[in-house]
Amino acid sequence: MAIVSLANAKGGAGKTTAALLLACEFARRGDRVAVLDCDPLACMTDWFRHGRNDDRLSITSGVTTSTLSDHLRRLRGQVEHVVIDLSGAADVLVALAIGLSDLTLIPVQGCVMDARGAIQVLELIRYIENNARADINHAVLLTRVNPIVTTRAMRTVKLLLAESRIRLVDTPLVERTAFRELFEQGDTLYSLDANRVSNLAKAQVNAQAFANDVLRLLSPTGEAVRHGPFSSMCYRAGRTVEPVPVRV
Ligand SMILES: Nc1ncnc2c1ncn2[C@@H]1O[C@H](COP(=O)(O)OP(=O)(O)OP(=O)(O)O)[C@@H](O)[C@H]1O
Ligand SMILES: [Mg+2]
Repeated sequence: MAIVSLANAKGGAGKTTAALLLACEFARRGDRVAVLDCDPLACMTDWFRHGRNDDRLSITSGVTTSTLSDHLRRLRGQVEHVVIDLSGAADVLVALAIGLSDLTLIPVQGCVMDARGAIQVLELIRYIENNARADINHAVLLTRVNPIVTTRAMRTVKLLLAESRIRLVDTPLVERTAFRELFEQGDTLYSLDANRVSNLAKAQVNAQAFANDVLRLLSPTGEAVRHGPFSSMCYRAGRTVEPVPVRV
């Protein structure tokens, strides 16, 4: 079971869209996918309410700090992928999800390059890495990128991030009507009408390439997925850690 989280402290960066594209693409390929909705606004859950989705996809809503590990323990062996949609925060739940994930993607709007929310998450990742003495597999994902953005411009962004030793997902998510339309009626990229939605085929190719990149990031040389540093403490151990009472 591979776990991917989407995190950016800034609202509207494209976390839920990227999470949905990824979950749907994995399910389309025949894998069982569980989505954990950790956002109290529950936009992802709203998409599932339309009920048009694949039966290989499931959703758990209202996931909190105290239930996240339990859900992962329950899902172990039941699904091939878990996609965690986080709220626009950099709080304890986000830190826990990052530590439990095998890959954390940090969506940043390519057109705006407003990196403040992403920097908060990157700082949180460094904090966990230093304290847990472990690497957190993570990468920045450019979202809502203008379709006519040049390869050269992308290369420059990549170089800038590389200087700070931050990996970039090779395929950016392009600004596409199809990605917005998904949420209108709970559609997938394959249930939308190509006569009504412009560049639908391009959006499908974009989502497929993005999912391929994510699989490569999870397992760069095809070896087994390296699990997040908290996984052995929480869901992989098969035991429940009782909360310690706090005395004030
Ligand atoms: N690649 C894209 N092309 C077109 N529209 C997009 C794209 N990515 C995101 N959007 C739109 O941008 C808005 C914000 O996206 P989304 O809800 O995915 O962000 P978020 O990071 O999950 O926000 P929040 O922090 O509020 O949960 C939505 O209206 C969504 O439809
Ligand atoms: Mg969201």
